[in-house]
Amino acid sequence: MSRPRPSPLPFDRRYGPWAVVTGAAAGIGRAFARDLDRRGLRVFAVDRDEEGLSRLQAELPRCATLTLDLTRAAVADVLQEALGSREVGLLVNNAGAAVTGPLLDHDPQAEAAVLHLNARAPLLLTRALAPAMVARGRGGLIFVSSTIAFNGGPWLANYAATKAWNVAFADALTVELGPAGLDVQCVAPGMTETESLARSMDMSRLRLKPLQPEQVAAASLEALGTRSLVVPGAVNKASTLLSRRILPRRLRHALMQAARPVVPEDG
Ligand SMILES: NC(=O)c1ccc[n+]([C@@H]2O[C@H](COP(=O)([O-])OP(=O)(O)OC[C@H]3O[C@@H](n4cnc5c(N)ncnc54)[C@H](OP(=O)(O)O)[C@@H]3O)[C@@H](O)[C@H]2O)c1
Repeated sequence: MSRPRPSPLPFDRRYGPWAVVTGAAAGIGRAFARDLDRRGLRVFAVDRDEEGLSRLQAELPRCATLTLDLTRAAVADVLQEALGSREVGLLVNNAGAAVTGPLLDHDPQAEAAVLHLNARAPLLLTRALAPAMVARGRGGLIFVSSTIAFNGGPWLANYAATKAWNVAFADALTVELGPAGLDVQCVAPGMTETESLARSMDMSRLRLKPLQPEQVAAASLEALGTRSLVVPGAVNKASTLLSRRILPRRLRHALMQAARPVVPEDG
């Protein structure tokens, strides 16, 4: 991917005053919200989990919240109305979900909702918020993908495809919007220890130590403006490099299955 040039402006002037973070009530999104608050930005936190948003607001009193199901088709209109005249300098497209198991056993509507959350929402929110950033000649767009986008994801086929969509979309936008002053980045975490993941699987069965959400947010934000693709963690970086450049496809899938305790019966 292309390497954007470093910006001379301090972080809060480059990406402030407001940062919209989707899926901010938990996990990686909450870590982004906390980190951005520390860096001096006002966080506009979007999530469907109202209680989680209330907890975040109690912790970060400067933030504003919007309870919204991001699978809704009208997601951009609802967000823009709630934002009002707030100036948004950074959009973190973080919210994401997966349905695990054999695709043909899944409710097609549940898979369509995954597609809407993981790909349609980032598309519509970017389309809605980027024009004002372009007009100001500064801003940032972050897309949270996953290493599964490079490794392939049997039994997570739709999820893996949506995560690859984020890689390709961000890559194209670095070229389209970089010259207008926007820093576009895709961050691709490997397994990260969030509450939802801990609820859905036995973390002690993992063969590799998972990342912490704070590591993912910090790696992304520290590299914003200098790197357009970030894979947090040395092991993930190495395995992604192997997958993308060296391993034959069959071995790549076999390794994915070995590393991930996700088997068809789980679905
Ligand atoms: N954790 C990992 O191992 C990992 C690895 C690679 C990439 N990622 C990516 O990182 C991102 C964040 O993952 P995470 O593990 O931090 O997720 P998480 O812990 O499940 O948190 C996601 C937040 O988004 C909310 N959300 C889910 N569906 C929503 C919807 N339709 N509308 C609005 N909000 C919604 C969730 O609310 P509810 O609690 O109500 O569902 C939750 O508050 C995702 O894009 C994921 O694909 C995660």
